[in-house]
Amino acid sequence: MTTIALIGFMGSGKTTIGQRLARSMEIPFVDTDDEIVNRVGMSVPEIFDHFGEQYFRSVESEILKSLSKKKCVVATGGGIIKLDTNRQMLRSDDFLTVWLDLTFDTVMKRIANDESRPLWNQDVEKRMSLFNSRQALYDDSSHFSVNVDGQPVEELIEEIKRYI
Ligand code: S3P
Repeated sequence: MTTIALIGFMGSGKTTIGQRLARSMEIPFVDTDDEIVNRVGMSVPEIFDHFGEQYFRSVESEILKSLSKKKCVVATGGGIIKLDTNRQMLRSDDFLTVWLDLTFDTVMKRIANDESRPLWNQDVEKRMSLFNSRQALYDDSSHFSVNVDGQPVEELIEEIKRYI
C-alpha cells in the first residue's frame, strides 16, 4: 500500500487538489497542518509563536511517519521537505509523492496578502529566497511533478491519476 503525498510551496493548492483527488479515488484525505493543529490544540501561528518552528517540524514529521503506507491522499505543509528524514520517507516506496510545482509569480498572485502563514510573513526578497531555496528539496523528495500554473483543477487531477 502506498500513501499519495502532495508536496509543494505555500499556495500551490495541495489541500484543494488533495481533497478533490481523494474524493475522485474514493479514499480518505488528510492534511498534515490540520493534524498538527488538532494534536497540539493551537493554530499554526500560535504553535510557531509559543514553541517555535523546530517543535512544529517534529510534530509534522511524526504525523508524516504515521501516515506511511496508508490508503489515503495527504496534503503536506510547504516546509515538510526541510527535514532530511521527511525527504527520505517521501521518496521511499511507502509514498507516491507528487510535487505541485508553480512559479513564484503565481504564488504571489494567490497568497500575496495572506498573513496566516508565519514563514510567509516577510518581505518579498525573503519570500523569494525561501521559494528558491526549496525548489531542489521538492525535486529531491518527489517521484514526479506537475506544473500547476494556471491549470484547471480537474485537468490536474486527471494528470496526477495517470501517474498513479
Ligand atoms: C509552511 C507551510 C504551511 C504550514 C506552516 C509552514 C512552510 O502550510 O505548514 O505555515 O514552511 O512552508 P501550507 O503549505 O499548506 O501553507
